[in-house]
Amino acid sequence: MSRRSTARAAVLCGIGGWVPPRVVTNEELSQRLATTDEWITTRTGIRERRFVEPGEATSDLAVAAGTRALRSAGAVAPDAVLVSTATPDRPLPATAPLVASRLGLRDAAAFDVAAACSGFVYALATAAGMISTGASRRVLVIGADVYSSIVDPEDRTNAIIFGDGAGAVVLRAGEDDEPGAVGHFVLGSDGTGEDLAIVAAGGSRQRTTDRSPTRAEQHLEMQGKKIFRHAVTRMSGSARQSLAAAGWKPEEVDHLVAHQANLRILQSVADELGIDHERCARHLVDVGNTGAASIPLALDAAAANGELRPGQRVLLTAFGAGLAWGSCVLRWPDLATTT
Ligand code: UT7
Repeated sequence: MSRRSTARAAVLCGIGGWVPPRVVTNEELSQRLATTDEWITTRTGIRERRFVEPGEATSDLAVAAGTRALRSAGAVAPDAVLVSTATPDRPLPATAPLVASRLGLRDAAAFDVAAACSGFVYALATAAGMISTGASRRVLVIGADVYSSIVDPEDRTNAIIFGDGAGAVVLRAGEDDEPGAVGHFVLGSDGTGEDLAIVAAGGSRQRTTDRSPTRAEQHLEMQGKKIFRHAVTRMSGSARQSLAAAGWKPEEVDHLVAHQANLRILQSVADELGIDHERCARHLVDVGNTGAASIPLALDAAAANGELRPGQRVLLTAFGAGLAWGSCVLRWPDLATTT
């Protein structure tokens, strides 16, 4: 039996990103919240973020990013669409089938992946598994979130961090030694940390209570300092395992693309791993923390501006509510960018 028929690798062959046009600067936030541009940039590194207009939803951003990724990947249509999001359009149905239909992908397998800010890496792993089993030959993987829909605009700690956006990649069946082959996934979770980042209302647990949810329960509540520490530990730990599995040394990594949560978190992860800060993606400066979209958006921006070049070694690592985390590696392929 040929190697191709037993263990097909998933190879990245298209990329695209989209952020809504409305820019929200630190200056604008400091006009209505007890905060300053200086506090936000010093504590997070973020200078501005994008918010959707009223009525715009996650699927709208996902379709825009998906369209660009499909254009970058060329003519062959995917047979599956995964949307990784913590802010689906509705509790039911999943957002992915609507996105697939709006992209003209009739009869494609389509489902959501719920792993908050780690969702893109989880969705990549899921898509890679679908390709290696032969269930799919080509998968559109989208990370999309509208955090402005769940962050309390009066909560100065969370309102300054998050932004809205979507990023997407296309994976095709290929060989594991090709540029673009994603692999050496390390995934993990710890549900004892459920309360550290939570939207308490809106699910089956809340419906069993006999009172209306409070304002706090309807919005994201986060214990920032604890999340910060877990994020550094879990991203650096899983990234180290992924590197070891790949046989790569930290100094051989050309780009560390970590979930864009906070510049101080990114730099701490880089320090833990022994990777220079200059090799660390810092797209959050311009768009904030975009949840599941942050890694594909950072990749798209780096590819478009020429920082990310074919053949370079890329390490992806993510952490988010759950708690959940994940890492993987790839060599960057030669892609058409559309941004
Ligand atoms: O996507 C994955 C999930 N999220 C994350 O990864 C976020 C992880 N955590 C963080 O990024 C940081 O913990 C934050 C940016 C959320 C907070 O930064 P921090 O350095 O941990 O600040 P802190 O929470 O310890 O607050 C320090 C002070 C407090 O005042 P007191 O108690 O010292 O008087 C806060 O009330 O800063 C105050 N503060 C602010 N001040 C001005 C909190 N938010 C603000 C603000 N502007 N926006």
